[in-house]
Amino acid sequence: MLERMTVGDVPKKHHIALRSASGQLRHEHCITREGFEGPYTIVYHERRPHTAQQVDARASFRVPSAFLASPSGTRLREPRPLRRRHYQSQKLEAGGTFLESRRPMLFNKDIVLSIAKPSAADPLYFVNGDGDDLHFVFQGSGTLRTIFGDLQYTRNDYVFVPRGTLHRFIPDHESAHHLLTIECLGGMDLLRQFRNSAGQLRMDAPYCHRDFKRPSFMGPLDEGIRHVVTKRQGRFDGFEHGDSPLDIVGWDGTVYPWIFPILNFQPRVGLVHLPPTWHGTFAARGALICSFVPRLVDFHPESVTCPYPHSSLDVDEVLFYCDGNFTSRRGVGPGSISHHPAGIAHGPHPGSYEKSIGAKSTDELAVMLDCHEPLSPSDAALTIEDPGYHESFV
Ligand SMILES: [Fe+2]
Repeated sequence: MLERMTVGDVPKKHHIALRSASGQLRHEHCITREGFEGPYTIVYHERRPHTAQQVDARASFRVPSAFLASPSGTRLREPRPLRRRHYQSQKLEAGGTFLESRRPMLFNKDIVLSIAKPSAADPLYFVNGDGDDLHFVFQGSGTLRTIFGDLQYTRNDYVFVPRGTLHRFIPDHESAHHLLTIECLGGMDLLRQFRNSAGQLRMDAPYCHRDFKRPSFMGPLDEGIRHVVTKRQGRFDGFEHGDSPLDIVGWDGTVYPWIFPILNFQPRVGLVHLPPTWHGTFAARGALICSFVPRLVDFHPESVTCPYPHSSLDVDEVLFYCDGNFTSRRGVGPGSISHHPAGIAHGPHPGSYEKSIGAKSTDELAVMLDCHEPLSPSDAALTIEDPGYHESFV
């Protein structure tokens, strides 16, 4: 969560009457986290917000098969042989709306990593009741429309959509999309150690408040859409509103969507190679999300600048490659997902270690996750797996 925002019409105090110029009573809607003890936002509707009738969700959109496999949205399988894995999301076909095209790839009880390559806007509103969504826009641009207002996103943006936010994605005309979605089932936030006692981002944090884009609120909106699909426990349920659910006249709070362009992350460099934790950007239950952005590298005259071989005994490591020259890896390219599970060592490909001595900078751009629980692949992931990746380290 970022700092508190207040937009539009709100009353002078919580839970007192707010009326329009003609005297019509507005309806308060409290969106709360951690029961009633965590961050919250209060939105004010023109109409009662809780009157939608249940309808068949599948009548209006095609639920991706990976979500249908089990109540949790993904299907557990027997552990596979312990190998370093590489999934080529470049090979997934594009098409469908944002919601339809979202395909889980790797998952555990905390995190579901999905790829989406939509070609059309969502013709309905979506509410994820299971977790916070952090979308990384690898390709594409457009508008995220929410009850809190609009956000314009583009390539290399992290787009944060908190659990429970009614929204839909609207791509720019003819904009090819490729998104990595990190669904955080136990919530997600900025790293706690980057805040001072007032909740403000510290001066030594790798980002500041000005690095984030916040929603533009323009008042009540009627797009003619009445249908809302809500996901809870991996199940999709449909609801039909009598009027537009975007009937918001104002809101006040800290729960709202935002955008963080990955290139606003301020990288840090040491005398010798710094571990991935220095690139930590967001924290989720059971996962640290890191940003690797172009930067100078370590400046000791004998520094080995590429990542050292390592065994992270308690984490599965996932890298999503976006851009630049990935000096330590062969055979991966933009759109690649590598999965290095705990239990076996991993490190640079042959020759990279020696060659990196004396390097001054790197132009790599990547999103990384360290996950505490083992990740399982979905059926969709198996169709795009590179079978020779493990052997490529010899
Ligand atoms: Fe690693």
